[in-house]
Amino acid sequence: MPLPRLCSGTDVRAINAATEDERWMRRALTLAARAAGETNPNPLVGCVIVRAGHVIGEGFHARAGLAHAEVVALERAGERSRGATLYVNLEPCAHQGRTPPCAPRLVAAGVRRVVVAQRDPNPLVNGRGLALLRRHGVAVTTDVLASEAAQLNERFLSPFRTGRPFVLLKAALTLDGKIATATGDSKWITRPAARAQARRLRRLHDAVLVGVGTVLADDPLLLPRPALRRPFHRVVLDSRFRIPLASRLVRSARRTPVVVVGLDVNPRKRRALAASGVHVWVDRGASRQVRLPWLMRALLRQRIRSLMVEGGSEVLGAFLAARFVDQVALFRAPLLLGGQDSLSAFGGKGPRRIGEALALSRLSPLASAPSRLRQSEEEQMELWYPRPAPRTPLQRRSRGTRSERLS
Ligand SMILES: NC(=O)c1ccc[n+]([C@@H]2O[C@H](COP(=O)([O-])OP(=O)(O)OC[C@H]3O[C@@H](n4cnc5c(N)ncnc54)[C@H](OP(=O)(O)O)[C@@H]3O)[C@@H](O)[C@H]2O)c1
Repeated sequence: MPLPRLCSGTDVRAINAATEDERWMRRALTLAARAAGETNPNPLVGCVIVRAGHVIGEGFHARAGLAHAEVVALERAGERSRGATLYVNLEPCAHQGRTPPCAPRLVAAGVRRVVVAQRDPNPLVNGRGLALLRRHGVAVTTDVLASEAAQLNERFLSPFRTGRPFVLLKAALTLDGKIATATGDSKWITRPAARAQARRLRRLHDAVLVGVGTVLADDPLLLPRPALRRPFHRVVLDSRFRIPLASRLVRSARRTPVVVVGLDVNPRKRRALAASGVHVWVDRGASRQVRLPWLMRALLRQRIRSLMVEGGSEVLGAFLAARFVDQVALFRAPLLLGGQDSLSAFGGKGPRRIGEALALSRLSPLASAPSRLRQSEEEQMELWYPRPAPRTPLQRRSRGTRSERLS
């Protein structure tokens, strides 16, 4: 009896081609991830050029201002890129930035086919790169490993969707959810390996933020380690400018920028801070404390597109209550502290109903499967994402503008 035919010859060829595309795109994603933390405000991009089943050139974007991944790969492939297939995780750009546009270079190099994981939502690109390639007869395939690519670039992509910086809330806490004793002692809840990992996590962001309560209690430096070769900001919420001029943050402000954000009060201290090299931001519309929606807009204006909020209790509680949360990183230590007067990780006034809790998931809303790219970095840390809230009928009818969503 003849065996049933599972696939026609055409199906098998299509499946093989799809698997081949995924294989090379995975390589492009792995290359892109090598520069994690270094490329801000640019995305992570990797590129592989393949001809007759062999890699003839590959590369990744190493830092803003340096060559884009496609250009690195094209230069390595040279003349052999004529007729080849190019894999890149983000749509090639079509606009002049700090470097010339990539899409015309791909056309000039004679690349026959371009496979991309996802479109670039940057309004300067957003489909223009793909349209240019198609206009010049280059075959284009999209959406190959799109969710892996989206998760890799979640910090870059998120502000285009939300109109505010990507926000990671990070806390080192005991098993009963405490971040400090009643006296403010928190050194050290976690072990050195976890603290080193938290310092590495800072490297992925444009800024870290704490409340002045943490500065007064701990006098932290809040630096990323290893050090970065790109701008990085340390932000303090301090409505009345209580931060000591002798604090380590203020004393190091000329080396790594420090922003102290407060209200229109205490002009003398503001001048002293500015004279020490601190950037002083004033929320003139606030009456009691810095308003977080205002802060989100101010950060974005300064090109701070991803923010790691490191506490303390009151500040983490304020971000949670405002729902400015895209990711939560918990470093949990095997300790029980107990005591109603110990500080809970997320302070402030809690909601009245369990239904108002923020529901979390291990899965990024951008991804269809947990990314394998980040597993090795997560050994000490639990990473969570807010579950997308079900949309109300009103939200379904009107999606709202960015500024409406922020207010
Ligand atoms: N284990 C950990 O992961 C960890 C991390 C960080 C800190 N800690 C511990 O947490 C303790 C400090 O926490 P904390 O709750 O006392 O202080 P905090 O959260 O660091 O700072 C709170 C202060 O920030 C200022 N602020 C300005 N605008 C704000 C806004 N919109 N929302 C909230 N706060 C705003 C307020 O002071 P003004 O009204 O004067 O502006 C407020 O009192 C320390 O003991 C520290 O050791 C632990």
